[in-house]
Amino acid sequence: MEFSVKSGHPEKQRTACIVAGVFESRRLSSIAEQLDAISDSYLSNLLRKGDIEGKTGQSLLLHNVPNISSDRVLLIGCGRERELGDQQFRDIIKKTVLALNETGSMDAVCFLTELNVKSRDTAWKIRQAVETTYEALYSFDEYKTKKNGHRRPLRRLVFTVPTRRELALAEKAILEGQAIAKAVTFTKNLANRPPNICTPAYMVEQAEALSQRFTAINVATLQQQEMQALGMGALLAVGAGSENPPYLITMEYQAGDSKQAPIVLVGKGITFDSGGNSLKSGPNMIGMKYDMCGGATVMGVMHAAAELELPLNIVGVIPAVENMPGGSAYRPDDILKTLSGLTIEVLNTDAEGRLILCDALTYCERFQPDVVIDIATLTGACVTALGRHASGLYSNHNPLAHDLLAAGFESGDRAWQMPLWDEYQEQLQSNFADMANIGGPEAGSITAACFLSRFTKKYHWAHLDVAGTACRFTGKEKAATGRPVPLLVQYLLERCKN
Ligand code: BES
Ligand code: MN
Ligand code: ZN
Repeated sequence: MEFSVKSGHPEKQRTACIVAGVFESRRLSSIAEQLDAISDSYLSNLLRKGDIEGKTGQSLLLHNVPNISSDRVLLIGCGRERELGDQQFRDIIKKTVLALNETGSMDAVCFLTELNVKSRDTAWKIRQAVETTYEALYSFDEYKTKKNGHRRPLRRLVFTVPTRRELALAEKAILEGQAIAKAVTFTKNLANRPPNICTPAYMVEQAEALSQRFTAINVATLQQQEMQALGMGALLAVGAGSENPPYLITMEYQAGDSKQAPIVLVGKGITFDSGGNSLKSGPNMIGMKYDMCGGATVMGVMHAAAELELPLNIVGVIPAVENMPGGSAYRPDDILKTLSGLTIEVLNTDAEGRLILCDALTYCERFQPDVVIDIATLTGACVTALGRHASGLYSNHNPLAHDLLAAGFESGDRAWQMPLWDEYQEQLQSNFADMANIGGPEAGSITAACFLSRFTKKYHWAHLDVAGTACRFTGKEKAATGRPVPLLVQYLLERCKN
């Protein structure tokens, strides 16, 4: 897709289609009003006849509108003007893009970025419009023999700004939106690939492909023997049941001052989570290819950082492991020795994410990080607590939590902070080791975060439990979302400002 911005009058646009909004009930937006005046009340006459009400989701395609240079005019229902907020704006753009794709308009000039969205500026609207366009056009058909393509797909979209003064900021918004959207697409594609293709070794290949594509990214991978020598007993135990050996991938993006401490991102990379010997039920196992969404997010964020040439130092750490049952698999009652030296009594082999993460998090100390943020589809309990709308956020450093929450609100990829209180730590007590790997039925997302917090004492750390937000696990809607790539890229963009 190609995007551009311009400022100008709607009647003068030579394009396949121009897009303008109509509010409930039958109120023309200011752009539509201009079209109406030029076309001798053509639009208001149609409205009066009841062709479009203005409800969100409605659309009306017009041909040969008098005195207008474009082939078509697409009217889009925008709902109630006073209630126009973030989600409604995204819905309107999505509807627009799908309608344009259906009409065979390969290019269009869209005036909807001139609508007022509550407390959002032009740059925000343009960036969201770009991201939403990619979202609307996304489909994963790598494994379909008949592809989902359109005969005349939408190729070029022009967004308008009210004044020339806003052009520069709008162009920057397009660049950022496109970098984020491409990174989200990368993350979705990687996460959507099946676990017989997307194995730990495949994750390594993907990281290496990124380092080939972007010179600022370098990749180093630890193999089983090296992890053994270092003492990563927890990570290795999780991988022990699989024929596909585990790897610890490190991606370094160096574009900041060499003395600047790096931002370290750690992504859970379980390429399939069967539960191991604490085997999941058949229905609960469906979608467990998505248990590497944290790792795919880290790669997506590195992708965006490299594309935007952000002046930062970023390290991505991805433990890529498959959790399988079997004769060589680890078991409940096992006691593991972690890289930190702490010991863990395994009570459930399905609580494996925290086991690969604890060794990866200890490994992060060597980068002398400014902050460490881990991203993991860690607990079903987080889905119970927050549903699919917010990622669970935990942190041992309030300014970091604050920055991530703000990045979530700005990007529309929100997180919600959860407590890491000492009282919850007690649930992890074990009679036989320093801690157990599960904390019982209560507050499962919190006790998982408490477990991780025991390995992150030496630096500022935040944890995003994205089990509810990174993907839809089952059903017809089964799909990766690419979250929380937008949140994290927003955080990085803000970090470039100081
Ligand atoms: N990958 C799962 C978490 C998960 C479950 C994500 C459902 C998305 C949907 C994780 O490894 C897991 O199995 N967690 C267990 C923990 C329990 C054994 C303490 C869970 O949430 O049931
Ligand atoms: Mn599990
Ligand atoms: Zn898991």
